[in-house]
Order: sequence, then C-alpha cells, then structure tokens
Amino acid sequence: MDTLILGIESSCDETAASVVKNGRYIMSNVISSQIDLHKKYGGVVPEIASRKHVELIMPVVHQALEEAGVSLKEIDAVGVTYGPGLVGALLVGLTAAKAIAFAADKPLVGVHHIEGHIAANYLQEPELEPPFICLVASGGHSHIVHVKSYSEFEILGQTRDDAAGEAFDKISRAIGLGYPGGPLIDKNALTGNSKAIQFPRVTFDDGSLDFSFSGLKTAVLNYLNRMEQTGEKINIPDVAASFQQAVVDVLVRNTIAAANMKNIDKIALAGGVAANTQLRNDMKVTAEKQGIKVMYPGLTLCTDNAAMISCAAYYEYKSGKRAGMDLNAVPGLKL
Ligand code: KG4
Ligand code: ZN
Repeated sequence: MDTLILGIESSCDETAASVVKNGRYIMSNVISSQIDLHKKYGGVVPEIASRKHVELIMPVVHQALEEAGVSLKEIDAVGVTYGPGLVGALLVGLTAAKAIAFAADKPLVGVHHIEGHIAANYLQEPELEPPFICLVASGGHSHIVHVKSYSEFEILGQTRDDAAGEAFDKISRAIGLGYPGGPLIDKNALTGNSKAIQFPRVTFDDGSLDFSFSGLKTAVLNYLNRMEQTGEKINIPDVAASFQQAVVDVLVRNTIAAANMKNIDKIALAGGVAANTQLRNDMKVTAEKQGIKVMYPGLTLCTDNAAMISCAAYYEYKSGKRAGMDLNAVPGLKL
C-alpha cells in the first residue's frame, strides 16, 4: 500500500505544499515565493511574510492536492514544519495543517525544518540511505550533520556567528547587488576572479569543525571602505568571486574533514546555499579525489519547499511519531 503525505512549509518567505508518495516520489510541489514582495526592503519582513502566508496557504494546499490528483481522503498524514523559523510565519502553516488534519481526521506529524532540508536528498537520490554527512547551509543555519539514521542526527560543526546564507545576503547588500544575495553573488562571481582579493578563512585552534563568517564579512566591508577612501574602482564580480571562494573553501574543508573523521564516504549538500555553483563544483571535485561521493538536490529542492517536509514527515510517520493538536511553533527548535 502506498503512503501519501501532504507536507506544508511556511517557516520563512515561501508558502509551500506538496504531496509525496512513499517518501521518495514527488506527486506535486507547489511553492509560492514572496521574494518580490520583500526585495524592496532588502530582506524578509516578518510581519509582511505572515500576512502573505495567510492569503496563500489554502490556495497553495488546494493546488498541491489538485496537481497530485488526490483528495484529502486519500492522504495518510499531514506533515508540517514547526520550527525553526519566523514564529508568525510558522504559525500560519502549522495552524492550517492542524485544521486540515483535524477536519479530515488524519494524523499530524511535526517536522524540523533542517531535517526537511536533509531529506531533500532522498527525493533526489532514490537509493540514498543513512549514514552520510550532510552540510546544511541556508539563510539561518550552517551545520555539518552526521545523519546516523532517518531520525538520528549528530551535529559535528556549526557556525559560531553568521550563517553562510546570511553572509551572502549581507555582502550582496554591501556591494549593491540586492536581495536575495546568494543567487546574485553566484551569478556575478561567474565573471569575476576568485583570486583577486585575499579574504580570510577562519580555523579554530581547538580543531573544531565550526564555522565563523563574521570576520570575513568585516574584511569585505573594510576592503570596500578602503577602496572608497582611495577612490579606486571596485570590481564587483571580483569581490563577489573572492568572497564566495572564501566561504566555499571553509565549507568544503570542514565537511570533508567531518567525513574523514567519521570514516564515511558519502556527503550530501542541503539548504539554499547548496544551490551555489562554486560550492557544488568544489565539493564534488575535492571530495571525489578522496573517494567520497557527493550528492546535492536540484535547485528547487535546495531552497525552501514542501516536498522535503513531506519526505521527512514520511520517515517520522513510519517510525510512529505523531503530534497532538497542541503542537506549537518553536522558532529556535534544536536538531
Ligand atoms: O534554505 P533557504 O531557502 O531558507 C532558509 O531556510 O534560510 O536558504 C536561503 C538562503 C539565502 O540566504 C540565500 O541567499 C541563499 O540561501 N542562497 C544561495 C544561493 N541560492 C540561495 N547562496 C549562495 N548561492 C546560491 N546560488
Ligand atoms: Zn530553509
């Protein structure tokens, strides 16, 4: 018997719903992005995001069911992101999921957003099974995770300050490229020289696999100020490429070190930053030289979507996990 999961995601600025069969086959994946709405403010405005989620959530859910060609009756469970994320945004998806589960008398499964990002790899690679090492790099997180099983995670390294995506967004704003920073820096870097400017790559004396991107951010800002003071022309593609290379170098170095430490020969990438061209390329080339296989989801499955939530919910559902109607949004939920 097939298991169909309706997944709902609204933790940031994407309103999304999806139906996934048996945890691996996407029947529908509807994503309504609010990027254009937040662009003029240079970032996500939480209150605007919540209001837009309210408008979009039910049409998006209906569309997901319609595209999958199934009715609510045929769904086995409703999976929903309950954290981490923006509290007002999370509450919209969560409330909708609870209402649907209650009305249709279906089990409710709460999903950790990061677990969802990791699960995007199961949708991309039908044969993939734990254990593997996953680099989760998004706007809010930079974690190196040892995925021990479908529901057991060990964090081997994480950022001590800014998340990788956050650094991309801040630098993009500073060099006038705007929001969202990641894709714009990625594109500009294609025509730039990544060796033009030497920006720092932080290592910790204690051998930790943690990241720190705030020093890099300051170094880029100092460079921009210096150039402005001396009246020299700033080459935007060179700054973008040199900054991006500094981020990618530490992400690749620490993730491969984690794989070696755990003697694991599979690395998966996840989260919005996993869409980065340089990161995908460098991780693959460097790891494969050491006999480590590298996987990453297609671009739509890297950034926020609900198919990844349906997939993670499927494994939680199979392991017997159920949430009550008292499930609350947890903005700082730990993995
Ligand atoms: O996973 P995601 O959609 O939302 C969060 O859970 O945060 O990630 C969004 C982040 C943003 O910071 C965005 O700038 C970054 O992912 N991002 C990228 C790229 N595409 C999105 N960063 C680098 N290169 C990209 N191509
Ligand atoms: Zn995300």
